[in-house]
Amino acid sequence: MDPINLLKERKVCRAFKNIPIKGNVVENLLEAAQQAPSGSNMQPWEIYIVMNNKLENLRKKILEAANEKNRNYGPPFSGEVPEKYLNRRKKLMDDMKGYLSEDKLNLSYIFKGSLTFFNAPAVAFIYIHKSLYPTRSIDIGSYMVYFMLAAEILGLGTCPIGYIRGVSDVINEFIGVSNEFILEIAIAFGYKDDEKAINKFKSDRVQLSDNSCIME
Ligand SMILES: Cc1cc2nc3c(=O)[nH]c(=O)nc-3n(C[C@H](O)[C@H](O)[C@H](O)COP(=O)(O)O)c2cc1C
Repeated sequence: MDPINLLKERKVCRAFKNIPIKGNVVENLLEAAQQAPSGSNMQPWEIYIVMNNKLENLRKKILEAANEKNRNYGPPFSGEVPEKYLNRRKKLMDDMKGYLSEDKLNLSYIFKGSLTFFNAPAVAFIYIHKSLYPTRSIDIGSYMVYFMLAAEILGLGTCPIGYIRGVSDVINEFIGVSNEFILEIAIAFGYKDDEKAINKFKSDRVQLSDNSCIME
């Protein structure tokens, strides 16, 4: 595929086939994502891939924990968020509702699916050392995008999942990661289930003139 079209046509996958990823595809994916740029080449990402039966066990633990009250799933915004950004988030939710209803689902599919990785056979949990958080979180974003695009080229769909921050204690304990590290993001990945209407959904983007400026 033309690389520009790859960028324009990629979209997140929110329904995966429950089949294992073949052969050495995961190694190839990690090898490609590892080429992501980072400030001073510090490569501050620490990756744990949890797959198949091990992921099933983690799913169960997450669902148990999600029943507990007082869990905070929201992104830690550091101030009042301007209306225009909140409106874009609301539009995403409204747009998804239409596709979900085709499969007789509602938005709870997205929230529960975020906690169960939309049935993906594999998840990458990406950590950063606490000394670098949030200053170098930008490098995690860089890694995340490389990972997502490499997966697409290898025939896999992905969904980054920030919502899991509400159960990061469960994930950290399951993986056995030291408390010196912070879970930035999870990326669910696997083969796309194209039968599901939600996977036909492509979110839109604002006009370039809304957030870009070319000066010369
Ligand atoms: C940092 C980050 C966190 C995200 N967290 C979630 C999530 O918890 N659940 C979910 O369904 N999608 C999540 N997404 C997917 C976004 O909603 C999606 O990327 C956005 O709507 C744009 O759609 P597109 O990637 O299909 O172009 C996340 C994306 C990013 C980059």
